[in-house]
Amino acid sequence: MSLSLLAKSAAPAAFRQTGKLMARTMVTATTPSKASLTENSVEQANMAGRSPLNKTISIYRWDPENPTAKPHMQDYTVDLNNCGPMMLDALLKIKNEIDPSLTLRRSCREGICGSCAMNINGANTLACLCKIERTTSKADKIYPLPHMYVIKDLVPDMTYFYKQYKSIEPYLKYKTPPPEKTENLQSIEQRKKLDGLYECILCACCSTSCPSYWWNQDEYLGPAVLLQSYRWMADSRDQFGVERRERMQNAFSVYRCHTIMNCTRTCPKGLNPGKAIAEIKKLLATD
Ligand code: SF4
Ligand code: SF4
Ligand code: FES
Repeated sequence: MSLSLLAKSAAPAAFRQTGKLMARTMVTATTPSKASLTENSVEQANMAGRSPLNKTISIYRWDPENPTAKPHMQDYTVDLNNCGPMMLDALLKIKNEIDPSLTLRRSCREGICGSCAMNINGANTLACLCKIERTTSKADKIYPLPHMYVIKDLVPDMTYFYKQYKSIEPYLKYKTPPPEKTENLQSIEQRKKLDGLYECILCACCSTSCPSYWWNQDEYLGPAVLLQSYRWMADSRDQFGVERRERMQNAFSVYRCHTIMNCTRTCPKGLNPGKAIAEIKKLLATD
């Protein structure tokens, strides 16, 4: 499948690639028979022992196999009394019991892998950490992460995001390697500087909520990659701080951040990429 088939076309030409590279699990279709679905539903309803609490969940659909059909929203009804409490539970229930063609990514189901990031009721978040509101008066709306190519339905193409991540060399770099078989120790204070940084799961919720990233994705690294970049600058064991900072001394890599703070507001892990970017700017200003 070529990216010309994808639903959104704003990624820089230099990084356009086929959409085949799937770094995370895309949930594939298995079709249960109608009879077994009905049996399961009745059994689960009996187990729940409660009258149905039906909620409409409206989901963005786009199929690259049918490129002439425009993206559209599709409504599904889910009985919340017969479903787990999180949005990912509802999506998997829809996929398993109603429509196996619905496509999404997920792996850990507990906010660790970052693969179920999507836009739920207007906010970028992780479906597995997002509780379903039990009010049924209006539908929940689910879209893929905004301003990304869509591979299918709720699956965005993360290729360029990962290329940006790779570009910051996210690993310890030495000029003088520590002696072999010796631990490379940090003090408690040095280690503390990594708190609030190492927990990032690269879900991209922050970057895809950032207006600067939407419009300058080809040159601006975005909050997720900048937070990661600062994580290595702040590490007392890394010996390439000067070079890491030098690479940021241009008008775009960092300085496209205008401190709007959408990134920090949306981070499902409670991190503060806006602050990490401010710390990088401080380092650059004193170089
Ligand atoms: S900073 Fe938060 S929102 Fe951004 S990629 Fe990391 S975990 Fe996700
Ligand atoms: S603070 Fe910077 S990175 Fe975060 S949303 Fe605003 S412009 Fe984007
Ligand atoms: S499934 Fe891993 S973070 Fe949601």
